Amino acid sequence: MNNRRGYLPSYGGTPQRLPQQIVQRGPLQNQQQQQQWLRRDQVEEEKRVTSEDAASSSQDWKAQLKIPPKDSRYKTEDVTATKGNEFEDYFLKRELLMGIYEKGFERPSPIQEESIPIALTGSDILARAKNGTGKTAAFCIPALEKIDQNNNVIQVIILVPTRELALQTAQVCKELGKHLKIQIMVTTGGTSLKDDIMRLYQPVHLLVGTPGRVLDLAKKGICNLKDCTMLVMDEADKLLSQEFQPSVEQLIGFLPPNRQILLFSATFPVTVKEFKDKFLRKSYIINLMDELTLKGITQYYAFVEERQKVHCLNTLFSKLQINQSIIFCNSVNRVELLAKKITELGYSCFYIHAKMLQSHRNRVFHDFRNGACRNLVCSDLFTRGIDIQAVNVVINFDFPRNSETYLHRVGRSGRFGHLGLAVNLITYEDRFSLYRIEQELGTEIKPIPPQIDQAIYCK
Ligand SMILES: Nc1ncnc2c1ncn2[C@@H]1O[C@H](COP(=O)(O)OP(=O)(O)OP(=O)(O)O)[C@@H](O)[C@H]1O
Ligand SMILES: [Mg+2]
Repeated sequence: MNNRRGYLPSYGGTPQRLPQQIVQRGPLQNQQQQQQWLRRDQVEEEKRVTSEDAASSSQDWKAQLKIPPKDSRYKTEDVTATKGNEFEDYFLKRELLMGIYEKGFERPSPIQEESIPIALTGSDILARAKNGTGKTAAFCIPALEKIDQNNNVIQVIILVPTRELALQTAQVCKELGKHLKIQIMVTTGGTSLKDDIMRLYQPVHLLVGTPGRVLDLAKKGICNLKDCTMLVMDEADKLLSQEFQPSVEQLIGFLPPNRQILLFSATFPVTVKEFKDKFLRKSYIINLMDELTLKGITQYYAFVEERQKVHCLNTLFSKLQINQSIIFCNSVNRVELLAKKITELGYSCFYIHAKMLQSHRNRVFHDFRNGACRNLVCSDLFTRGIDIQAVNVVINFDFPRNSETYLHRVGRSGRFGHLGLAVNLITYEDRFSLYRIEQELGTEIKPIPPQIDQAIYCK
């Protein structure tokens, strides 16, 4: 009863009085009774005051949050077309809600509205939503909600295809779970196995990693996955490519039978179906991609000869209003060569690819994210999942060979429904790929005009 009374006012109600029992009594009884009622009224009053305190303190937690400044940039329907849910509708732990609001999230994006309640019920999910629309929080929020922080075992694994994405995703989990006592560990190739072993002597509730390293730890018996009831596969189609699929399938063998599997990506080629049929039970399918490309990104191509590409890039640099840019090349070698050329032209640039030392990769990733440099030249290492809100221009210095790669690359700009620009340098050899990718994605890549209105990618 007390509990219920304590609760009522937080929904805006007032404490209700119990109905008075009417009984016939003599004069003495009456006096006693009156005193009793008096005392009762006093207690009721005290209770009312405490309940009101509870009510105001239940609002106080919101008033005390450290909310970051509002992002006033224009946002497209890709993130604004929601059902109008609030994060509070999902009955999440107060501490988790605090982390969500302090991350600057006001209300759930469309993919979050769809996935969070379903993931909380324990169903398997295959979810498809556009780049930059908040898939990470769509699985991190239910994962953090479901973890029992008093049970010191690994309860959730989040698998991703690259080390940088693992670091980024773990960071998102740490930020969202800032007020929870959930222990999060990142484990990827390119780091010391010994350090991971040492770390696993301490409690870990949530493991974020790349498939090879996580499997290695499981096989060696260093990480115990028998209580890991949730497996998230972000960029699921990439994790199911030949490169990763065998490791992923072996890893699933270490999980308990009651595990829940969540697959997320912006692209789900047919190859994913086989895995779904084999490993997912009564999966819930969410597909928010009736169209594939982002509404906020304008896509252009410039028809060039190979030897004109650097000159063309120079012209783009001088004409465009670049906040930050990512420039993609198709090989590690070309990344390094181009970065050198750009520096010679007098523009600042970093580069990153998978053949660099991990410590160096980490530094470049960290510094570019913090805005230490305007341009980043990279290989497909940065094609998927990397979220740098300041990037408003993506340049395909080399045109990609398939539409999935194209979609993910251009999706590095226009994050969370913001505006962005994608410029593709197209050689004679690329002309069929350009046509095919346009067809496959049902999108239009227009010839670049002499002048580009800043309003279409800088608002
Ligand atoms: N509810 C929200 N409100 C405001 N911003 C949000 C919300 N959810 C996510 N974001 C922000 O949107 C950006 C993109 O999110 P995220 O990286 O999860 O997208 P994604 O769907 O995983 O994209 P990709 O397909 O490229 O991996 C991030 O900077 C994130 O902080
Ligand atoms: Mg993502």
